[in-house]
Amino acid sequence: MQIIIFDNAEQVAENAAQWVSELIRNKDKPVLGLATGSTPISLYKQLVNKHKNEGLSFNHVSSFNLDEYHNINADNAQSYRSFMKDHLFDHVDINQSNTYLPTCSNSQNPREQGVSYEKKIQELGGIDLQILGIGANGHIGFNEPTSSLASRTRIKTLTQQTLTDNSRLFNEGEEQPTMAMTMGIATIMDARYVLLMATGKNKAKAVNDMITGALSAMCPASALQMHENAVILLDKEAASDLADHQYYQWADQQHRKINETYGFYHNY
Ligand code: F6R
Repeated sequence: MQIIIFDNAEQVAENAAQWVSELIRNKDKPVLGLATGSTPISLYKQLVNKHKNEGLSFNHVSSFNLDEYHNINADNAQSYRSFMKDHLFDHVDINQSNTYLPTCSNSQNPREQGVSYEKKIQELGGIDLQILGIGANGHIGFNEPTSSLASRTRIKTLTQQTLTDNSRLFNEGEEQPTMAMTMGIATIMDARYVLLMATGKNKAKAVNDMITGALSAMCPASALQMHENAVILLDKEAASDLADHQYYQWADQQHRKINETYGFYHNY
């Protein structure tokens, strides 16, 4: 794992935006894995700015979102399709027919929908760079604790903690879905690079468990310990439970020197 600690959340977003723009400027048909939630909103802002002010084009990009609520219409304000349109898709030149979310309505079989999502990812050559947030319980995507580390796209029931954490996003009277389709942990592990962003004190324990805890289905993000190219971008608060805080900062400085000498090498 490459662990990079920044002073604040804005710097985390800036760095994540550099990763994304480096990929989409250098690859003919890049495939992005996208996340929703509060954390990546500032990343999407940075990407929209880069599109408007630096000519960053998304017209050759395909994307796959990590998850989508079960049986929700795309035009429902709470759908993750709406989230992506509001924060990114409607503000850049991406071809929205190349943007995919793991949808499943009541009339569809979740198992078949999961299999066809996996097939579509394969068909487009796999995900180059998967953006991730982390739940306070260590989830990635909606792979809640006890999710199989070998799981693929499927339907999951959200835990009470996730429902409570996300209830802030629902207005009074709005129904909060309790089930979602999510990429599995093995789906995420197949991405060539994963970029996990975590900010704020409420993520400190999950971040520490992910990096220094045992590889365990009880902390699904700990699976990233087995990923060859996992980059973890943290602000100081999210890193505050890490005992080796100083080592990670020092190692990052050393790596920057190596990169200055030899250049970045990302094998997308
Ligand atoms: C979002 C997702 C979730 C979030 C996680 C953190 O698509 O799959 O795993 O990344 O719940 O959410 P925030 O960023 O709102 O704290």
